[in-house]
Amino acid sequence: MSLPDMFREHLPTFDIFEEKNPVRGRGVIGREEEIADLTSRIENAESIGVFGLRKVGKTSVVRAVTDALDPVSASMSMRAQTAEGQSQQAAVRVLACWLDVQRAYDRSARRLYSTLAAEIEKRLSAHGMTIPSPPTDDLQRIDDLIRLTMEKTALPLCIVLDEYDFLFEGSQGQPPIANIAAFLRLLRGWAQQTQRLCVVVIGRDPTPFQSPEVDGFPNPMLGWFVTRWLGPLAPQRANELLSRLGKRVGLDIGSVTLELALSLTGGHPLLHRQFGSSLLEHTNDRPLNSSHLNTDVLCKAAALDFHERGAVREICHEILHLLRTRFQASYDSLVHAARTSPIEALHHASWSSPAVVQLRNFGLFLGSAAKSASIPLVLTVYVRTFERRPSRSSRHRNSNRRGWHR
Ligand SMILES: Nc1ncnc2c1ncn2[C@@H]1O[C@H](COP(=O)(O)OP(=O)(O)OP(=O)(O)O)[C@@H](O)[C@H]1O
Ligand SMILES: [Mg+2]
Repeated sequence: MSLPDMFREHLPTFDIFEEKNPVRGRGVIGREEEIADLTSRIENAESIGVFGLRKVGKTSVVRAVTDALDPVSASMSMRAQTAEGQSQQAAVRVLACWLDVQRAYDRSARRLYSTLAAEIEKRLSAHGMTIPSPPTDDLQRIDDLIRLTMEKTALPLCIVLDEYDFLFEGSQGQPPIANIAAFLRLLRGWAQQTQRLCVVVIGRDPTPFQSPEVDGFPNPMLGWFVTRWLGPLAPQRANELLSRLGKRVGLDIGSVTLELALSLTGGHPLLHRQFGSSLLEHTNDRPLNSSHLNTDVLCKAAALDFHERGAVREICHEILHLLRTRFQASYDSLVHAARTSPIEALHHASWSSPAVVQLRNFGLFLGSAAKSASIPLVLTVYVRTFERRPSRSSRHRNSNRRGWHR
């Protein structure tokens, strides 16, 4: 019996496609260019904002970069510490500290500073540094720790703030964390003075970067961060993801399947994996044989079930919620495109209008020009099924409102 068949027989419920947490190491498929670009920027201590849709792979990509630049931080986060001790220390090119901002769960400045300080202290201790003075919970502690790093090592310090959107807005629309401008000013000051501190923020919305003020103060982030959009996987990379994972569970992903997957998801990695999972489900009742199973015979049926999956609906729901609440004009364009066609929608908002550029940044309008534009089929189906059309009266109200403002 072949290895994939043994796999299927003995682990009938194992689904290699079902993974919702950030992927690490060889699990990261098809992001070579993005990883190379971020690696050289972080090594040069540039501060970066990495933006993209939910579950598009932001954390996985930035982790891949810091894992390579700082193997010690990689093993610290994977709890496999000291496996290769000395050789890991030798390979360290950056000291990386991660903080998921959601850990400051009460959104108080105090908790933000203390959790970040603890992360920096942990990393410095693993580097063999002694941390003097009793810890305090305030911004001074962060200042002290950065100073210590700059004095005692020649390495760049990289602070990653994942889910950075929570710094500026709570889940119920609460205002920015108190004193956030002072925190950012402190980081910016060190970054400029030493050229050895880099801050990487990861999130969905770069708007806080662009507004002139934060917390009533001039925005310290203006002109400091480089913005990098993480879109879906390029077609060849998305094919690679499906083929590689498929092979591991005995599926031979055919060319018809690959094409269908791309048109459904546009290359969004989690959606792509969900399609893979749907394919796998459809093979479960087929008899085992020693050759790989070509998926082209069952991909259409799998596509129908794909739209019904909870994870798929959740992602579509979140995408539309994000657009509706933060990028209204982009929401209108996407919904228009889904209800008619991208070409039709682009008669109203041009390819280079801010609303459409935003959709292109997110990888929701695909293609290199207006005439070849497309949107992922899964969103077309979702919009047509779940997004309510505005009622006649609200359409009337809106058109009056537009007239009033003009
Ligand atoms: N390059 C990739 N190769 C394989 N799978 C990937 C890749 N990128 C993302 N995924 C899939 O997408 C999921 C989400 O990845 P990740 O958590 O990195 O995304 P994210 O954008 O940080 O999500 P969130 O919006 O929750 O912060 C992973 O669990 C994995 O299943
Ligand atoms: Mg993430």
